[in-house]
Amino acid sequence: MNKLINFEKLKNKKVLVTGGLGFVGHNLVRTLVNQYHCDVMVVDDCSNSKPSILGDLTNKVRFYNISVLDKKAMAPLLAEANYIYHLACKQISVSSSDPFGHLAVNGQSTLEILEYLRHNDLPDFERFIYTSSCSIYGSSMRLPSHEESSKNILSNYSATKLLGEHFVEVYFRNYGLPVSTIRYSNVYGYGQTPNNPYCGVLGKFIHNALDKKPLMIFGDGEQTRDYTFITDAVEATILAAIHPMALGEVFNIGTSTETSVSQLAAMIGEIIPDIQIQYLPERDIDNVRRRSIDIEKIHQRLGWTPKTTIRKGIAETINWYRDTYF
Ligand SMILES: NC(=O)c1ccc[n+]([C@@H]2O[C@H](COP(=O)([O-])OP(=O)(O)OC[C@H]3O[C@@H](n4cnc5c(N)ncnc54)[C@H](O)[C@@H]3O)[C@@H](O)[C@H]2O)c1
Repeated sequence: MNKLINFEKLKNKKVLVTGGLGFVGHNLVRTLVNQYHCDVMVVDDCSNSKPSILGDLTNKVRFYNISVLDKKAMAPLLAEANYIYHLACKQISVSSSDPFGHLAVNGQSTLEILEYLRHNDLPDFERFIYTSSCSIYGSSMRLPSHEESSKNILSNYSATKLLGEHFVEVYFRNYGLPVSTIRYSNVYGYGQTPNNPYCGVLGKFIHNALDKKPLMIFGDGEQTRDYTFITDAVEATILAAIHPMALGEVFNIGTSTETSVSQLAAMIGEIIPDIQIQYLPERDIDNVRRRSIDIEKIHQRLGWTPKTTIRKGIAETINWYRDTYF
């Protein structure tokens, strides 16, 4: 690991995590509390999650059931935070049905937080981390997509995630706010609750396989994605906050490995016998054929490399589902 990293920086700090009950959010909160002993403020309006996800962390964090769009309620929390992780979002699966919701939560809330940080004197504030998405590369012709690759916006979700990125860049360049942006690629793993309609493909596949229900493949199953295990995503997210070379930068977080949906099903089938597959027509959100993400920048600058292969990640996720639901 790079010598520039000072993990002590995070210890006992006040950290605000928006969307902190979400899939990535609650895993990040767990690491911040258990590993770094941070005083964590969790903001979530419970629109896509439940406070019970915090489990044994419930008494170790301060939970605020508020919207990130509630400026009055957000202000004192923003004023207190040393680090702000902005993860609250509307999911891609409701991209076409709720375009204004996407604009508000993914775009406007980001601008409102940045405006607050710009206009207030906050001597203890250290960094704002914006979580964007590799979906902004859309159907790139050249793979793997690197940070400067052309963007190919195919959904309201991606449009508003990129809008948030642009705001972050403006506030870094024009007002010198300490910010970092990370672009996740298909994160999977512990805590992706299957009863949540927006749960990712891997969570749904594993749950159905254990439940002896068919794995539903939309389209021919040859569409590929770059799947990132949750612990790797959380580690990179933490680095983005504390590494000096992450300041003002944008980083892809992925693995550079392409895996098709059919391959996912086959890998699950190697662990859970007798899986059944049901093919269904493609949905409007299935318009990206292939995805693979270049992670050379984060590797070179922050010394981060994903540690979990897709096979290992699937095995760990299956164990988690077995222990939690079956
Ligand atoms: N999971 C992935 O594969 C992935 C991929 C790319 C980018 N991302 C980004 O990472 C971040 C976290 O994603 P996730 O998978 O954990 O999503 P998630 O849906 O599990 O979590 C988002 C959380 O935000 C909350 N939320 C929604 N609107 C809110 C509002 N107005 N105020 C407060 N809270 C609100 C939801 O209740 C939910 O708990 C998001 O910014 C997302 O765009 C995730």
